[in-house]
Amino acid sequence: MDQNELKKLVGEEAVKFIEDNMVVGLGTGSTVKFMVDALGARVKNEGLHIVGVPTSNRTAEQARSLGITVKSVDEVDHIDLTIDGADEISNDFQGIKGGGAAHLFEKIVATNSNKVMWIVDESKMVHKLGKFPLPLEVIPYGSKQVFKKLEKKGLHPEFRMDEQGKHVLTDSENYVIDLHLGEIDHPHELADYLIKEVGIVEQGLFLDMVNTVIVGRQDGPEVLQ
Ligand code: 5RP
Repeated sequence: MDQNELKKLVGEEAVKFIEDNMVVGLGTGSTVKFMVDALGARVKNEGLHIVGVPTSNRTAEQARSLGITVKSVDEVDHIDLTIDGADEISNDFQGIKGGGAAHLFEKIVATNSNKVMWIVDESKMVHKLGKFPLPLEVIPYGSKQVFKKLEKKGLHPEFRMDEQGKHVLTDSENYVIDLHLGEIDHPHELADYLIKEVGIVEQGLFLDMVNTVIVGRQDGPEVLQ
């Protein structure tokens, strides 16, 4: 199986955990896209009643197009389960997210969920976090000053730009800075430092947040709890 097939496999496995009348957080990314497709099929074929709480405009659009009822995080009183992708997951279940620039909304939805599940192909499982550049969402105003501070601290920042050389914008119209760290020795300390820096709205370390990980392996999906 190639990477896309593994993503599809875990997407389809994840929707088996969704029960009738659940409020479900819907993450963002290519793996989640398969999951939302599979969820749409259950809604259509089984008449499953769920409310989806999407973490991006992209996911909201896809869910609506499949007939899934969509509400914002502020319109529900709880979220039973959020299913999302990840860019890296370490052995101790800590993660990096934000490769799709949606980590702010993803973290808001995840921290308001009773349970969080990540679905990934096996290439995302790592011994140590940091090879994947750590995404930050930053307010455009003053972002060059934030950038300089990060550079001075040796965190190797890079503004995320599109093919036209324009800043990639999040759904909140903020910029993204990626930190090229190689390895992250102390994720909690780094997260604490970054979130205190004025102008950084959110950072992509998702620590102590996940209950279940489904890993797509060649011999089938592996459920880790
Ligand atoms: C978006 C994310 C995604 O979950 C992460 O980038 C994984 O994406 P994909 O499933 O496409 O590999 O954090 O902000």
